[in-house]
Amino acid sequence: MTFPLNWRVALLGLLLTTSAAYAADSRPTSSPAAPSAHVITERPGHAGIASANFHATEAGHEVLAKGGNAFDAAIAVAATLSVVEPESSGIGGGFMAVLHRASDGREVFIDARETAPAAVNAKDYLNKDGTPNRDTALNGPLSAGIPGEAAGLAWLSTHYGKLPLKESLAPAVRIARDGFKPDGRLVNAISERAEDIRRWPASAAKYLPDGKPPVVGEVWRDPDQARTLELLGEHGFDGFYRGEVGKKLVDAVRAAGGNWTAKDLESYQVKERTPIVVNYRGYRVVTAPPASSGGVAVAEILNILSGYDLTKLDTVHRTHLVIEAMRRAFRDHNDYLGDPDFVKMPMDMLLSPYYAAGLRQTILMDKATPSSMLPVSAGTDPGMHTTHFSIIDKDGNIASITQTVNYTMGSTFVAAGTGVLLNDEMDDFALVPNKPNVYGLLGSDANAPAPGKRMLSSMTPSIVFGADRVGVIGSPGGSTIITQVLEGILAFIDGKDAAGIAGQKRFHHQYMPDRVDVESGTFDAATTEGLTRMGHTLKERSSWGFMNVVTWDLKNNKLDAASDPRRESGLGKVQ
Ligand code: GLY
Repeated sequence: MTFPLNWRVALLGLLLTTSAAYAADSRPTSSPAAPSAHVITERPGHAGIASANFHATEAGHEVLAKGGNAFDAAIAVAATLSVVEPESSGIGGGFMAVLHRASDGREVFIDARETAPAAVNAKDYLNKDGTPNRDTALNGPLSAGIPGEAAGLAWLSTHYGKLPLKESLAPAVRIARDGFKPDGRLVNAISERAEDIRRWPASAAKYLPDGKPPVVGEVWRDPDQARTLELLGEHGFDGFYRGEVGKKLVDAVRAAGGNWTAKDLESYQVKERTPIVVNYRGYRVVTAPPASSGGVAVAEILNILSGYDLTKLDTVHRTHLVIEAMRRAFRDHNDYLGDPDFVKMPMDMLLSPYYAAGLRQTILMDKATPSSMLPVSAGTDPGMHTTHFSIIDKDGNIASITQTVNYTMGSTFVAAGTGVLLNDEMDDFALVPNKPNVYGLLGSDANAPAPGKRMLSSMTPSIVFGADRVGVIGSPGGSTIITQVLEGILAFIDGKDAAGIAGQKRFHHQYMPDRVDVESGTFDAATTEGLTRMGHTLKERSSWGFMNVVTWDLKNNKLDAASDPRRESGLGKVQ
């Protein structure tokens, strides 16, 4: 029997009302289970790294050559990105990682996300008339969460690495001290944010020497960050969160009107969490749990899609179903998700195949569901400027890591004497309930700021295990991270190689605004016409995340690494 659209929407309303009641009950819902394990007996014998920057990929291989494993290499890549690509991520920010350890198959999610300082005050993000203050949310010390990146790197080294932290950080220290030639992207990012950078003397001194950005191709040095990384290498957590660096960070933030304390830094904790695992068409997708919204959304979309045989459908219908699944998953993610240490979330429901089957019943095969017909949800947008890298080492250890300082050049605030550019991750909280953030979207209570709470992220580092192939996939791109990673996973399952996955054209729907953002060249004229006839509104979008993918063919133990051609091919390297 087929029901008309309004019946189906009523059904969805019922389903989601029931879900809301479930969400409000007091049962503990975040999974405290031990991380899962998935043993693979093959060993590649060589390593693959794909990152967004040549220096970072090389730094990772350098550390592998010194005897390090994928996790030591991840430290080298992450810290080098902090030096050469501060516009996207850095030690003043945070990361989220899905790891697979070859020796015992342990799969774990490392949450090195920033937290709100104890003195967080929602009023700081309001103008006198009660409207959101975009400036305090995005610029300067009030916009910065307590960084998690440095603690996360120390954690990786202590718990998963083979080399001392100092050795894994050595390439980044060297590059910061001896200098490197900035690329056009860094110089453009500095120019774009120059007005804000000028507001903070230490930021201007670093990024606008002589009043101007560094010059493309001319050696540029970052001695303060070199020293900070060195102290991190020598003293681990304490080298950043206590002592000289910790004091300078707190003093600089407070002198400029922020509210960090020494205790905020000293009490920062990395969290190990159980990754989300979803089975789809014989593949096992291991991805990010809250405080990322990404893995929940990817799992919900895959669960909805698993009720169809997409391979038997034409492009229009296949795309339509993917869009409708995205629409429904984003509706949910906006409503329910936040920091699992603070918010009870209906994870069992959101990840349930029965729940997905109910949502599937609300999808018509030939007609778009207007988002306005779905039960209203508040939205949240997780920011735009981030970076992802993927690593598989010769022993089969795997690191899938996405890291960020949030908006381009983060808060633009450098803490004097540290070289550390602070994030502006506070904007990833729903700072003002139901008021749009910088990206024009809304936020819900689950993601309201609170002392020590992690702000919701979209970062979706993922690993896909098949019977004879493994894929390490992730992307930057704000809320589009989730859909881009989803499309990467589907491309991998369809058999594409690393370059094919990274280069594949993309589309995105996030419930609100109710439109499909489409990369030029994604759909031919017939598909565009077919989707439009079904009621989808298509809009061309020019900016897409730079995806970095490593794949492992288990049949012949061959690795393949590819970076996103939208940015720069050739940054993936196997050796
Ligand atoms: N700040 C971007 C994210 O965490 O999703």
